[in-house]
Amino acid sequence: MRKGIQNLENNENKNYKIIAVDDEQGIIDSLSIFLKRSGYEFTGVTDPTEAVEKVKKEHFDLMILDFIMTPIHGDKVVEEIREFNKELYILLLTGHKDLAPPLETIRRLDIQGYCEKSDKFDQLLLLIESGIKSIVQMNEIKRINDELKNTNDMLEKAYLESIETLRYTVEAKDTYTKGHSDRVSAYSVLIGKHLGLPEEDLKTLELGGLFHDIGKIGVPDSILLKDTKLTNDEYSEIKNHPSIGAHILSSATIFKDIIPIVKHHHERYDGHGYPSQLKGDKIPYLARITAISDSFDAMTSRRTYRDSLPLNTVIDEFEDCKGTQFDPELTDVFLDILRNHFDEIKAIREKFK
Ligand SMILES: [Fe+2]
Ligand SMILES: [Fe+2]
Repeated sequence: MRKGIQNLENNENKNYKIIAVDDEQGIIDSLSIFLKRSGYEFTGVTDPTEAVEKVKKEHFDLMILDFIMTPIHGDKVVEEIREFNKELYILLLTGHKDLAPPLETIRRLDIQGYCEKSDKFDQLLLLIESGIKSIVQMNEIKRINDELKNTNDMLEKAYLESIETLRYTVEAKDTYTKGHSDRVSAYSVLIGKHLGLPEEDLKTLELGGLFHDIGKIGVPDSILLKDTKLTNDEYSEIKNHPSIGAHILSSATIFKDIIPIVKHHHERYDGHGYPSQLKGDKIPYLARITAISDSFDAMTSRRTYRDSLPLNTVIDEFEDCKGTQFDPELTDVFLDILRNHFDEIKAIREKFK
């Protein structure tokens, strides 16, 4: 019975490849007999330089390494191997205690253990066994990690695809919206960057800008594409688009963060906007930024009934509406961009003509 278990263990050891490097052929021979008997797949090398080359070309799980060798010492061998392989589990064999490399070197080179050479290999075998256990753990963690990464990549891909599909839907309805949404998105990110907002907020601003008008899907074409003056009733229909948009996106958790932008990009700082008549700081911060980008793009786009406004007029308009339509602090930041960093705005207009 005991023999059966022993065989099983030995068979499992076959899955692990050990390479030993020692310039004494005698040691290699003894290790070879001993480790093969324990079931490991064993390779012995007497030339340290050859060992480095072998590790480059072949996979090994564990290395047993002599310290004092010619032409290069064990620590040099490890140093060279670590340049291209961080995973190999390395055990160092030392001749005499006082010839062992300092602990600091062992740690720096990521050597997992060392033991003194002796005729009996008991201590070495224990070190190898615990080494193999660590390797098994490491492989398992690597496998799970790869699996998670794959799932993540797939999710991210599906996410981007669904965004694209949605965007096509909006574009099909209103070609004006496409360039407009791209620009609003980019202007908002630009303002966010000038404010020093964290990456996460910039992402929300980007996506929020792309979808802020998605609710226009729910507004009849006859109203949306009308180039004469809208009646009061028609105007109220248009005013529904933020709520419709928020409703459309509410079914997908991935859009959770952009819903405040979609829903509140037409609120005014003085509380006279729509749909919720929110006032001041009650309007979500990122929606206040998007409101500025949205209005700026409306002013600077050519419409059927007028040309785009000149920069000076736009600046005057923002000065006038500071604190009434727009958040005053954010308006100042945007005015600074208009006055002193207009090349950044220009680049966006060029990109999304
Ligand atoms: Fe809108
Ligand atoms: Fe808009």
